Amino acid sequence: MAIIKDVLYVRFRVTDLQAQQRFLDDFGFQTSIDDGLLLARGTDGSPYIYLAEESSEPAFVSVGFAAESEAALKEVAAIDSVPIESNTLPGGGLIARLTDPNGFAVEVVANIADRPLLTEAVRSDFNDGVEKHRLGERVAFAAPECLIKRLGHVVLMVNDFSETFEWYQRRLGLLISDEIVMDKDGQEQTLGAFTRCNRGEEYVDHHTMFFINAGHSDFNHAAFEVGNWDVLMQSHYALKKAGHQHSFGVGKHILGSQTFDYWKDPNGFMLEHFTDGDLFNESFGPHKRSPADLLGTHWGPEGMPGQ
Ligand SMILES: [Fe+2]
Repeated sequence: MAIIKDVLYVRFRVTDLQAQQRFLDDFGFQTSIDDGLLLARGTDGSPYIYLAEESSEPAFVSVGFAAESEAALKEVAAIDSVPIESNTLPGGGLIARLTDPNGFAVEVVANIADRPLLTEAVRSDFNDGVEKHRLGERVAFAAPECLIKRLGHVVLMVNDFSETFEWYQRRLGLLISDEIVMDKDGQEQTLGAFTRCNRGEEYVDHHTMFFINAGHSDFNHAAFEVGNWDVLMQSHYALKKAGHQHSFGVGKHILGSQTFDYWKDPNGFMLEHFTDGDLFNESFGPHKRSPADLLGTHWGPEGMPGQ
């Protein structure tokens, strides 16, 4: 039985809520501030996929996952004997608050009432060199209500990969897609792994969580899916024009295949736009890949974002 549907939101403390809202608007969210809480959503139905409160100490606060059902939430909460509380945020529902071995707050929610979907970015067909799909018409773009669709994945630096993955696997049922390994003095060392939700035959993103075996714990980035390639590039130039800090990209990863573009928010937290990622279901087994695969790209800059 699937335990979680997907990662749902990330929550932060930021030094200037108004400046953060301007950045998030430029980044492509639909935002609102309610009683000191900044909420941002995409075109999918979740009332929020990003949350922030103002504080003199900027921080990554938590990552939230959507449980498959109330029964699944109860099973997760029972493992650590944590209470299931009512969620006071828009959309209501139930929430269980956990803490992972690194001290990260992990929230699991169920029964949040979705909002009506917003209109998505759509465009007419592509004409590439091999196949022409748009004949006798000009390219047309329908303006969406917001550019971002959903939260796709979160990347965390962790103290100990094995301990961290066991914790998430037991509670959330995550599967390994690609484990990054290298040889050190004849011993195999794990540098981290891309992990995904297990929804049986249903196809899910190549990675929902990427844990980097760093020997310390920190937030690395959160990645939001945008409608298509044109939206990604449109946002790239709009963010540049607005004077925001670019981090890495545009490029196309080898592992996961996402076309990526990384930005820094006003407090330096890294947020990514991505599109065209790989999807796998339960039949895709775990693979071992090299650091070169991790750092390499099909095209675009190579290396790790944010360095
Ligand atoms: Fe990413």
